Amino acid sequence: MKTHISSLKEFNTFGIDVLANNFNKAKNEDEILHFLIENKCNPLILGGGSNILFKNNINKPILKIEIKGIQIIEENENSIYVSVGAGENWNDFVRWSLAKNYGGIENLSLIPGNVGSAPIQNIGAYGAELKDVFHSCRAISIDNKIIKTFIKDECNFTYRSSIFKEKLKNKYVISRVTFRLSKTNHVINSEYKPLKNLLNERGIITPTIQDISKLVIEIRTNKLPDPKKIGNCGSFFKNPIISNLKFKNLFKKFNTIPNYKISKNEVKIPAAWLIEECGFKGKIEGKTGTHKKHALVIVNNGGASGEEIYKFSQNIKKSVLKKFNILLEEEVNIFE
Ligand code: EPU
Repeated sequence: MKTHISSLKEFNTFGIDVLANNFNKAKNEDEILHFLIENKCNPLILGGGSNILFKNNINKPILKIEIKGIQIIEENENSIYVSVGAGENWNDFVRWSLAKNYGGIENLSLIPGNVGSAPIQNIGAYGAELKDVFHSCRAISIDNKIIKTFIKDECNFTYRSSIFKEKLKNKYVISRVTFRLSKTNHVINSEYKPLKNLLNERGIITPTIQDISKLVIEIRTNKLPDPKKIGNCGSFFKNPIISNLKFKNLFKKFNTIPNYKISKNEVKIPAAWLIEECGFKGKIEGKTGTHKKHALVIVNNGGASGEEIYKFSQNIKKSVLKKFNILLEEEVNIFE
């Protein structure tokens, strides 16, 4: 359904006020197909707008996915398979699962955005990743309009990425995602240090999935700004992964550098630490800056333009490269 719209401000959590001249919404797969047939030129597919930075007005056709519905499609003694419309809000789905005592996504509580975008960047937080509960998704090919089901093995999930962000970038529109959640014997994932510490502090020895969700929400709200109050897209950059050798050399110079071994040959470094060390934590520059409680979160302090935020992010990148010889990679999608 085509609507006349002037501003995209309420459709991106950075709150950037850019204009669009061809804005459409789809409530089902037929409407997606109809849009793709009508608009042949490389459209912009929009979910919850929580991982996107608009630099300029958008002249290409936009399709916002608003497919709703949460349906259990299969269940056995231990698990349920639930198909969720791509346009469902992610946290609403988490809350639905917790209310029914279905486990697997409690650590991913309060992540902004919609269900359809979640597999694209394999959302993750507090020791869990979407791929752990992902079963399959339905997606429509933008080129030939064929609907395909992608099973987990076809999605090439890696840290904050998938086939939909790499080889098949801008090639498919995800319409539904099927998750496998636990009904009984929930696997409690409490290894993430701040979560573990908080559980100890509260004396919770055998946490329920609801306890985990509650504490994750507490940690998130203490550290990360609410996009409804301060425009932001969560982590602006990915945490860089570097070789053991590069890490060894860095460690000689910066021996407090936090690091997480992720494979035999690679180490992950928190981008927030690198940015903070470059003096950017809580820095305000014009209408943008980084959040005072988290250096990895770039914020719109009110009325910032996409260009201004982008320039600021590139200054951060330059400083980190100069000091640590590490090139940060954006987690946020940037639209020219
Ligand atoms: N740190 C700093 N300065 C800061 C903040 C953090 O030095 O201002 C260092 C600390 O050493 C801290 C470490 O960075 O221990 C990690 O910080 P945090 O636990 O906040 O996690 P993160 O690596 O910065 C990742 C995800 C977040 C997710 C959290 C929690 C990425 C790019 N980001 O952040 O996801 O919520 O872990 O699991 O992987 C998002 O993707 O938008 C997002 C918020």
